[in-house]
Amino acid sequence: MNLWELPFFVSPLDQQALQYKGSSSASGDIQQGVLNAGQAEFPVIDGFPNFVPTHNLSDKTKSVVAFYDDRSETYDQYLHLTFHTHGEDENKVRNGLIDLLELNPDSTVLEVAAGSGRDSEIIAGRLGAKGKLFLQDISSGMLNKARERLQGCTIPVSYALADACALPYADNSVDCVYSFGGLGEFPDIRSALAEMVRVCKPGGKIVVGDESIPVWLRNTEFAKILSTTNPQFMAPLPLEQMPVEARQVCVRWIIGGVFYLIDFRVGNGAPEGNFDYPIPGPRGGTLRSRYLGQLEGVTPEAKELAHKARGKRGMSMHAWLEEAVRKAAADDLK
Ligand SMILES: C[S@@+](CC[C@H](N)C(=O)[O-])C[C@H]1O[C@@H](n2cnc3c(N)ncnc32)[C@H](O)[C@@H]1O
Repeated sequence: MNLWELPFFVSPLDQQALQYKGSSSASGDIQQGVLNAGQAEFPVIDGFPNFVPTHNLSDKTKSVVAFYDDRSETYDQYLHLTFHTHGEDENKVRNGLIDLLELNPDSTVLEVAAGSGRDSEIIAGRLGAKGKLFLQDISSGMLNKARERLQGCTIPVSYALADACALPYADNSVDCVYSFGGLGEFPDIRSALAEMVRVCKPGGKIVVGDESIPVWLRNTEFAKILSTTNPQFMAPLPLEQMPVEARQVCVRWIIGGVFYLIDFRVGNGAPEGNFDYPIPGPRGGTLRSRYLGQLEGVTPEAKELAHKARGKRGMSMHAWLEEAVRKAAADDLK
């Protein structure tokens, strides 16, 4: 890592800023050292800051790490077959996914679960000297491959070992986030998406995708053939795990229609609407008064009387009740 990256990193435990007190090269490179935030320490090993909570990993995540560390040497030899199976050109597909990030040369981009850097290389090619690319993965074997692939790249690239569910980046620190092919292996997709939203600036794009055959194809021989070798194709579409900040959400299926792709823009909190315009008609009121203004049920006889009275006065039920309740309350509260 390099000293320029330090302000972007935080402790993934509590988002505290990190300190580094060790040595670095004249150009700011740190090969070995320790970053700390209070009592928490994170080693830098062979240039990679390591935020993976190794003592705390589930058995499933340990086996994911072991699988990718072991497979990192051969991963690139066979990956094109995924695209070949469906007659797709990998480079064209990946470029199309990256188009959705709406990059400009100065963008600061985070790629989560970057793997061997097949997309990272394309993203880097679209950035200029003022752009920044942050690459994150949980497997040092895979991240090493990404670093080898991007050697000689002239834009600033940062690498970090971390769990996608606890990202080591500061709030609102990047312009957009990209993650393809790793979500199904994350321990908790909801936390990972929430983390992507936390680190992305409001208005930025998030683009994520992974295996998931659409439900209407699940009983076809096509689906059964694919999922026999890779059960991940039967993973559910993670719509329930989507963050409330997601706006302009677009879901589509790509690469033979067996990978989902979700892209959205980051909003502030849950959406808001105009709930206060008067609704015409005998019921009246507003969307907000109908939801927040309910009091209690009355007898059917009292309800019928209220309807007759409001009809006689040509008022909506909302306006009649509002007046009646305020008048009764004012008398009782005198
Ligand atoms: C199938 S590869 C995809 C790599 C790359 N994005 C691509 O399209 O070729 C999945 C990647 O997810 C990473 N991964 C799995 N679980 C992870 C986690 N919890 N946090 C971060 N990365 C993870 C793996 O190490 C691996 O590099």
